[in-house]
Amino acid sequence: MEQAQIDRAVALLGVGGVVAFPTETVYGLGADARNPAAVRRVFAIKGRPAEHPLIVHIASIDWLGFWAREIPAAAVELARAFWPGPLTLVLPRRHHVPDAVTGGQDSVALRMPAHPMALQLAAATGALVAPSANRFGRVSPTTAEHVRVEFGAAVDLVLDGGPCPVGVESTIIGLLGGVPRLLRPGGVALDRIEAVLGRPVERQDMGIRAPGLLPAHYAPATPLSIHARLDIAAVARDLLRQGRRVAVMTLGEAGADLPAAVHRLAMPTGAVAYARVLYATLRGLDGGGHDALLVEAPPDAPEWLAVRDRLGRAARAFAG
Ligand code: TXA
Ligand code: MG
Repeated sequence: MEQAQIDRAVALLGVGGVVAFPTETVYGLGADARNPAAVRRVFAIKGRPAEHPLIVHIASIDWLGFWAREIPAAAVELARAFWPGPLTLVLPRRHHVPDAVTGGQDSVALRMPAHPMALQLAAATGALVAPSANRFGRVSPTTAEHVRVEFGAAVDLVLDGGPCPVGVESTIIGLLGGVPRLLRPGGVALDRIEAVLGRPVERQDMGIRAPGLLPAHYAPATPLSIHARLDIAAVARDLLRQGRRVAVMTLGEAGADLPAAVHRLAMPTGAVAYARVLYATLRGLDGGGHDALLVEAPPDAPEWLAVRDRLGRAARAFAG
């Protein structure tokens, strides 16, 4: 049954189809990376601006040289350490790489995903572009059901590989001009990457167009704001007094001071477990009739970088 679905997906991808599939991070909207018409359909379905580049998903480190014209030693070290897995490398592109994939930039983003379905599709197709399978600017999907709700019949097939174990997108490292730079925090913690490279990774971006790097992104429908644990009960009480319906996401169980009238969501206290359920929690709240979602700020520690980044972007979508 499952294999039949995968075979169908491979057949559809071979004729320019768009197939949503699971990766270990989030669900992707897949198309053959060497078929510009198929890639353009992905942009159209997502509502994504055409100049924003996509990640090429490959099934083996051996494909690096097909897409990238230079492969610095750091790229090989990182790929060996973290592939297959939630790490994307941005490298100088070869000239044949379609502009539809790179948004016309001189670089290409590459990753080898760990989910067995994603790997099978990438191996059978050669290479797949796969942006997160959500409408531009919205919360990424971590289940097949999220994708179906978001796109319905707009995609040719949605493969169901269960909930995504990582839950946030891949970490993106830029390796242009010799200096490793963090372009997006994600599934591989930055301190692990720095340990492999044996040097610090710079955090500022390079002026590259990357929607994940826009200040406001990953936005749920319910207005979200971030607060210190000490303030959250007072803010909730204020909103309740104004007649608002309030949900509160705490790290672990809420304190006794939190008003009984708020909808409580006790989030995991570990960064890995928190990331796994973050997007599903945000989606679950949407449509729940809440006027405000108050989120307790996670710790300012390296392993929380990706979660803090996504929460911060979601909050900025509603600020000012
Ligand atoms: O975990 C993931 O990476 C997921 C799964 C499906 O693999 N994919 C994903 O794709 O998050 P997307 O399109 O939602 O985000 C890709 C990010 C964007 O921020 C994009 O701008 C950046 O990668 N990117 C792609 N090519 C780039 C390039 N040449 N230079 C800099 N950033 C690039
Ligand atoms: Mg995305």
